Amino acid sequence: MTLNLFGEISEHELSNDSLGPGTAILHGFALPAEVALLKALDGVVEKSLFRHMVTPAGFRMSVAMTNCGALGWVTNRSGYRYDANDPESQRPWPQMPDCFMELATTAAKEAGFPAFAPDACLVNRYEPGSRLTLHQDKNERDFGQPIVSVSLGLPAVFLFGGDERADKTIRVPVAHGDVVVWGDPARLRYHGVMPLKMGAHPSVGAYRVNLTFRKAA
Ligand code: SIN
Ligand code: FE2
Repeated sequence: MTLNLFGEISEHELSNDSLGPGTAILHGFALPAEVALLKALDGVVEKSLFRHMVTPAGFRMSVAMTNCGALGWVTNRSGYRYDANDPESQRPWPQMPDCFMELATTAAKEAGFPAFAPDACLVNRYEPGSRLTLHQDKNERDFGQPIVSVSLGLPAVFLFGGDERADKTIRVPVAHGDVVVWGDPARLRYHGVMPLKMGAHPSVGAYRVNLTFRKAA
């Protein structure tokens, strides 16, 4: 049984697979909120544009990023950090839309994390060829809080590994509306995204957009 975003038992066949303890793949979980999410996303991106950040090693990321919420994840030549301001606009990141918050907390609850209280949402935009190399999400303070990752637009292959970079990875196909959650004891597992394949999504176009919700502070 799966509860949808509005707390109703869904009539759709939603599966709740897992990648091990502390994880869940909620297929189609975001679909009932699709229209609201995409509209809210437009509002965020109008205020803080997508940009290609630079890694501490000086590489331009192939994924374009922006943020909403009290804190936003940024990288530049001096390192990775969370910042209350968008370094491009020097102004606070756009507020986290209510429908984002509702989706993130409902998905976390479904995955066994009822106390999730995200204060940051990193928005990643992949174009064909964009990828995210294996990494751990470890710039947050409290590893007791999970990561909630929402896929929109073109399908992708999410790589999910272990606690060490060299550990074997599992390939997890993720499609529009899928939500992946990982938290304690999986919170520090390595993960990444394979290069995006060309395509056109009816509501998102030639992109995959991923929302990752975190409790950063
Ligand atoms: C991330 O690791 O921050 C994003 C993962 C994804 O795009 O699925
Ligand atoms: Fe990540």
